[in-house]
Amino acid sequence: MDTKIIYDINDTTLTEAAQTIRSGGLVAFPTETVYGLGGNALDPTAANKIYKAKGRPSNNPLIIHLARPEDAESYCHTNETYYKLAERFMPGPLTVILPKRDIVPYEVTGGLDTVAVRVPSDRVAHRFIELAGVPVAAPSANLSTKPSPTMAGHVIRDLSGSIDMIIAGDDCDIGVESTIITLSPVPKLLRPGLVTVEELREICPDIEISDAVLNQHQGRPESPGMMYKHYSPRANVVLLRGADEARQAFLADKSECGMLCYDEDTELLKNRYALAVGSKDSPKEQARNLFAKLREFDDIEDIKTIYAPMTASDGIGLAVLNRLIRAAGFEILDLD
Ligand code: TXA
Ligand code: MG
Repeated sequence: MDTKIIYDINDTTLTEAAQTIRSGGLVAFPTETVYGLGGNALDPTAANKIYKAKGRPSNNPLIIHLARPEDAESYCHTNETYYKLAERFMPGPLTVILPKRDIVPYEVTGGLDTVAVRVPSDRVAHRFIELAGVPVAAPSANLSTKPSPTMAGHVIRDLSGSIDMIIAGDDCDIGVESTIITLSPVPKLLRPGLVTVEELREICPDIEISDAVLNQHQGRPESPGMMYKHYSPRANVVLLRGADEARQAFLADKSECGMLCYDEDTELLKNRYALAVGSKDSPKEQARNLFAKLREFDDIEDIKTIYAPMTASDGIGLAVLNRLIRAAGFEILDLD
């Protein structure tokens, strides 16, 4: 299939992209979190095309993207908490799971009776969804198991030839996917993101945190996506738990390995295969760079292992750690 890549983004080209969605095609588009692979959320055939293009199991449900929080009324059974969350965090990087209405096909929800809704704040995403005139089902626009795409080039590499169109916009500002909270039946964090647990607690004081956020899940987790291998570059990722000095000492003679470092690791960064993910003090910066750096290691032919630090687990740090632990397939080496 010929994939049309749109570099010149304006109302004319976005109208063409919107038309492609309405006629059952697939369009990748930028959002503030990561690039999404969109299709008409009311069309079971479009949903199946999405699973196929990504190589994703069809029991791993898709998020429905809307232009406005109140549009959720047509697709799920909302409640007071939803509107409180919407008022504070939408448009923005928050996804809320609620009981679905019949109009949403089971192909989109992976067979579940709930549906995930999100209202992106990114200007291009918003205009594209508004012009589509239908809800847009969109997972991250990467091949399944690969790090999520934060730059147009990542999407072009993974999906050109297998989808209709790519809107090649700017790099994504946030860099990790939206925070996911389910309200069905009680508030529970399923995936951490830029909207933190601490912030969500101000609206849902008794919010629980799913075990699957930091642990390998036994059986079927609340969020099917947590079950699968994820965010993995070609080389094997290993997390190092311990003080910075212990990590620096451990890596001193590992110059043939990949190393994901903080900006502050100045000595380590002299190594050939060392890449900086951002300042140790800025989880926000780490979130923005994480997936792009993991993908950069794929371009280095000979590395077999990538060592990375265990990052902080509070605030936005939890989002970074959640992705890193999965990228490492839960492989953690204790240095202390
Ligand atoms: O930031 C984002 O959320 C990006 C952009 C494109 O909007 N999208 C994204 O979609 O990350 P995806 O498909 O890569 O991740 C969606 C996650 C999956 O882990 C899926 O299992 C979970 O949301 N999910 C979706 N619907 C669900 C539901 N009804 N119940 C539980 N988990 C659900
Ligand atoms: Mg994804």
